[in-house]
Amino acid sequence: MIKLGVLCSGRGSDLQSIIDAITAGKLNAEIAIVLTDKPNVMALERAQRANIKNLCIDRKRFESKSEFETALLNELKTAEVDLVVLAGFMRILSPSFVHEYKERIMNIHPSLLPSFPGAHAHRDVLAYGVKVSGCTVHFVDEGTDSGPIIMQAAVEVKDDDTEETLAARVLEQEHIIYPRVLQLYVEGRLKIVGRKVLIQNE
Ligand code: GAR
Repeated sequence: MIKLGVLCSGRGSDLQSIIDAITAGKLNAEIAIVLTDKPNVMALERAQRANIKNLCIDRKRFESKSEFETALLNELKTAEVDLVVLAGFMRILSPSFVHEYKERIMNIHPSLLPSFPGAHAHRDVLAYGVKVSGCTVHFVDEGTDSGPIIMQAAVEVKDDDTEETLAARVLEQEHIIYPRVLQLYVEGRLKIVGRKVLIQNE
């Protein structure tokens, strides 16, 4: 069974969609550990409720990014994690971390990349005035939101959207495509060829 290590920073609704997919038998994986970079966040509660090992590695308690990442890596290795799943994790991982799990880190981002990378996708989408937005699941490389794209889903941007209404519409799609992508990974059907990710039939 593939072991996932899920990293979150807050509410954890993407985490919940993964937990629910596993419970429903749609995702044949195990969440070995949930890690957060902040204390007292809902993601930790969701993990507890599902009896999943969970731990806060509070970024504020570390002097440097590299010490923080070493602590994260220690937990992931101890839990024998195969795939690192960023689910609302609001930090950029350093190249050395990415190298440790080369092609074994995924992220979900709430825009149609390469448009609107970074921490304020919905705000940037609304400010720009685009008519379509969505979400993107991609492998993580050394850049920011720049790795090979695995799957995207589009939603309409409405004239009266706020960041909240747009985020809610995008999240519905996130909760569908992230578990789906993870199951494709588990089935060994994702093949990275340069910048492209091919989804193979078997
Ligand atoms: C999601 O919309 C996710 O795509 C986004 O944060 C939200 C987390 O929601 N991630 C990023 O913006 C990463 N740069 P959640 O905590 O309810 O899963």
